Amino acid sequence: MNQPPRLITGIKPTGELHIGNYFGAIEPAVRLISTGSYESLVFVADYHALNFIQNPAEMDQRSLEIAAAYMAAGLDPEKVTIFKQSSVSAHTELAWIFDTLTTMPYLMRAHAYKDAEAKDKEINVGTFNYPMLMAADILLYDAAIVPVGADQKQHIEYARDTAEKFNRIYSETFMLPEPSIMESVATVPGTDGRKMSKSYGNTIPLFADRTTITDRVMGIVTDSSGSRPENVYAIHKLVRSEIELEALYAEHEGKYKALKEALIEDLDTFIAPMRARYQELMDSPDMVREALTRGGEAAAAIANEKMDRVRRAVGVA
Ligand code: ADP
Ligand code: TRP
Repeated sequence: MNQPPRLITGIKPTGELHIGNYFGAIEPAVRLISTGSYESLVFVADYHALNFIQNPAEMDQRSLEIAAAYMAAGLDPEKVTIFKQSSVSAHTELAWIFDTLTTMPYLMRAHAYKDAEAKDKEINVGTFNYPMLMAADILLYDAAIVPVGADQKQHIEYARDTAEKFNRIYSETFMLPEPSIMESVATVPGTDGRKMSKSYGNTIPLFADRTTITDRVMGIVTDSSGSRPENVYAIHKLVRSEIELEALYAEHEGKYKALKEALIEDLDTFIAPMRARYQELMDSPDMVREALTRGGEAAAAIANEKMDRVRRAVGVA
């Protein structure tokens, strides 16, 4: 039987997930995976997160949350390999080999590095090398497709360039991955109208309860220029069709409070079933941990075979 193409994606366990993460990264990935056209691997990028979180209890808890979130969003660990990056040591081993092929000026062109530079922030070596670890995550599994948020496009380019370079220097070893980005929801705005991000404190948490949803939605900044509160609408259209919204917003023109109340209702309805599944999983963390252990073993079987080939290719086997 022909092997279906592989799909891989991951999320860093660096904070509470928000609806921007969901609509920008999780939902598109789950949708693609659910077509059943791929052999899918989904992982918790905990070694990437070490650049940001240096508290073991928090790292463990956040990692569990990401795994539970993927499951609550519809991934079945019986069908999809869900694992922690740190359980497959080939990721860091391959990243090292990629470091040896990569020049500093090339990595200095990365957006994340340039942003840190522009802000005069001290950048650690792990963050500087981030694109090489991410290239390893993807290339180890011969992934054909990588669903990611729009901000990750450049990282996929790095993975492709690195694959090409390795293939050229050594021998044809890696497949070139394609990104899959859902442009229509490329950036979910936060309650202040900027990109929703945990670092701006403008989020609506993905598994928020009704009280939190109410609190955050009531805090959405509304402008008084147009007839429609754009920041409310932009979030609303994620959970309700634009045709329905046209009518609703026309009916309540200028009545921001009524529109926010409608958004609270629609968000709560949307989140409730996922929130219930997530709660159930977080109440039985051992189940999630077991799934991660099994996933780690399955992923390691693929990665270690590839790593043997890489070692032979570079002459250290
Ligand atoms: P944050 O900006 O809150 O720190 P991360 O950088 O951890 O979020 O993002 C994890 C994933 O979620 C990335 O793939 C990113 O593209 C996606 N994502 C984050 N925020 C948004 C947003 N506001 N709109 C769309 N996608 C987002
Ligand atoms: N860099 C990604 C993010 O910040 C997370 C990530 C790490 C990833 N490795 C990956 C995503 C490999 C897709 C494939 O969101």
